[in-house]
Amino acid sequence: MREQKTKARIPADPYGEEGLSLLREAVRGRMSEKRWRHTLGVEKKAAELAAVYAPEKTALLRAAALLHDLTKELPAEEQILLCRRFGVPVPQDCLESPKLFHSLTASLLIPEEFPLYADPALLQAVARHTAGHPRMALCDKLLYLADWIEDTRTFPACVKLRKDYDERIRTADTGEKRLAVLDKVMLRSFDLMIREILTEKRALALITVETRNALLRDRAERKNERKTHRHGSEK
Ligand SMILES: [Fe+2]
Ligand SMILES: [Fe+2]
Repeated sequence: MREQKTKARIPADPYGEEGLSLLREAVRGRMSEKRWRHTLGVEKKAAELAAVYAPEKTALLRAAALLHDLTKELPAEEQILLCRRFGVPVPQDCLESPKLFHSLTASLLIPEEFPLYADPALLQAVARHTAGHPRMALCDKLLYLADWIEDTRTFPACVKLRKDYDERIRTADTGEKRLAVLDKVMLRSFDLMIREILTEKRALALITVETRNALLRDRAERKNERKTHRHGSEK
């Protein structure tokens, strides 16, 4: 693993423009050019999504985006060593699908290497950005979706999902409808991801299935609430 500790200047406000720009500089040397372009794309998309859903979380989401793939390019063996160093049991899901490792290991490494960003909401969003979680907070969902639909993604499923989100959000004229769009597009991302995993005959992490089931339940509850509300106002 590249030992490149951040001895950067300490910004007055880690989430201000100067702080984020120092963070950008510190993260840039830690990844390939392709991953870096993707990271900047996620930062931009996370800010766009925050403007729609949670403007007060914009800076936190931009920082989470800059850090989300910090360990993505490390080999599985190094990810295992990182888990051991932090005393975290190596998850079976990660051993079967090594792509899942980096969400966990980035969330472990951030407090050590970027202590200014050891915010629990940021770490949780990073930890949940690949396979999701059955109880995702709004910031978790926004980082997850930004990672899927950022503009440099050219994978057909990502292009499809980006188009789907853009079309649906255009006509969502209330906060409630915008949240429904978020969950609908997320559900679709899980469908696309699970289909791809099955086609490639890869192991399917239990948490991926649990997250999809939770999104289905939320959708059903939302429908029921709308029905009850309609019936209530008809009486
Ligand atoms: Fe990632
Ligand atoms: Fe990513």
